[in-house]
Amino acid sequence: MQAETQSIVVVSKDPAVSALVASVAQFSPGTGVRNCDAALSEINGTALQLAETNDLIIFRAEGEAARDAAAVREILRHTGGAARILALADAAMPFAELRQLTDAGVHEVLPDTVSADELSAAIRTCLKGQEPQQALSGARGGREGMVIAVSQSCGGAGATTLAVNLADCLTRRRGLRRKEAEFKVALVDFDLQFGTIGNFLDLPANRCLYELASEGFVPDQVFAEQSLTETAPGLWVLASPAEIAPLHALKPEQVEALIAHLRLQYDFVVIGLPRALAEWLTPVLEASERLLMVTGSSVPAVCQARRLLDFYAENSMRLQADIVISRERKPLLAASHHKEAAKLLQKPFKYWLPDDPSAAAAAADQGVPLSAAAGRSALAKAVRRLSKDLIETRNARAAAAQPQHGKAV
Ligand SMILES: Nc1ncnc2c1ncn2[C@@H]1O[C@H](COP(=O)(O)OP(=O)(O)OP(=O)(O)O)[C@@H](O)[C@H]1O
Ligand SMILES: [Mg+2]
Repeated sequence: MQAETQSIVVVSKDPAVSALVASVAQFSPGTGVRNCDAALSEINGTALQLAETNDLIIFRAEGEAARDAAAVREILRHTGGAARILALADAAMPFAELRQLTDAGVHEVLPDTVSADELSAAIRTCLKGQEPQQALSGARGGREGMVIAVSQSCGGAGATTLAVNLADCLTRRRGLRRKEAEFKVALVDFDLQFGTIGNFLDLPANRCLYELASEGFVPDQVFAEQSLTETAPGLWVLASPAEIAPLHALKPEQVEALIAHLRLQYDFVVIGLPRALAEWLTPVLEASERLLMVTGSSVPAVCQARRLLDFYAENSMRLQADIVISRERKPLLAASHHKEAAKLLQKPFKYWLPDDPSAAAAAADQGVPLSAAAGRSALAKAVRRLSKDLIETRNARAAAAQPQHGKAV
């Protein structure tokens, strides 16, 4: 059974209100709903207790707006303004009374004819209002994960292979059986429609991103915690769904919130991108400290990489993009077509992943990372080198941030 992570108390003499809230809350895993069969203004001390022990109070305004407003003020005074309160009122409630409630501090007054969707959205917004504080305190005391996006210039370039094995290497497992992970890594397959990260790691499809796209809610910390599966020590994966969700159904604010929560929980967040463009790519690019563009060195592949990089740059000025040439060993001397391509990209070819079909196939066939299937292969070593670079960058950043943390408090 799901552990309760947030609770709502419904203060109303009308059982239909409790039933409506309960039916809405059942779609948010971990939400408990309690009932208090009374009017808010009648319960005084009990209301203060309820405010302390629940995340949200929803009450039915009983036509005595002044008394309800006084009760709301008292609750907020008692909780130092922390209580979250929603009201349901007669749709014909006079405007002046409505103002009394909102002026007292009711987050939102909804008509009692509200639809389940509207109520659900109001509850989410109201509970979300508590998050920035939690998120901020987490960011101060906890992780500030490094976000790395992996993109591809053309189909089959090797982006998923890199994303999976980079995430695996970033855990930097040690110990006799490599069971102790130094870093906690999240691997997210944002290739909503054609993602294959789950296949590479023998994981079932995950409905979470589909739910996000189809239901439209902004994910909270609990959603972020419960959506990922640990597949190896330190490696947590959010695979793409089996259902095909329209790419544009995801909203930028949903993606922004999900990444923000993951950054608080993980040292690294590796994101596999789709090749198609969508509005919600902007928050991914803005959060990313590094983008790895996986491409071949052929003219069509490089031209496509250039177009994508231009788009990314328009959406995030600060993004550092590095080129990863896949299926080619780094030559001792750059060939002329490499030089031409690097000129077109206005970037050097920073990383090279050798063509290593037997290692790639062994890992894919077993549904495990290269480290488990072909740890000594040239491909595994190349990915390890790349991961070392990123770990050094992250550690340098963490070291630079340390004195500031000391000063801040
Ligand atoms: N360096 C490599 N050497 C040999 N084979 C590779 C290499 N990288 C990937 N492959 C193989 O190429 C195929 C495509 O790789 P992958 O799925 O990682 O590419 P992609 O860019 O994610 O493609 P898609 O367009 O399907 O998203 C897979 O079968 C993979 O095992
Ligand atoms: Mg892929």
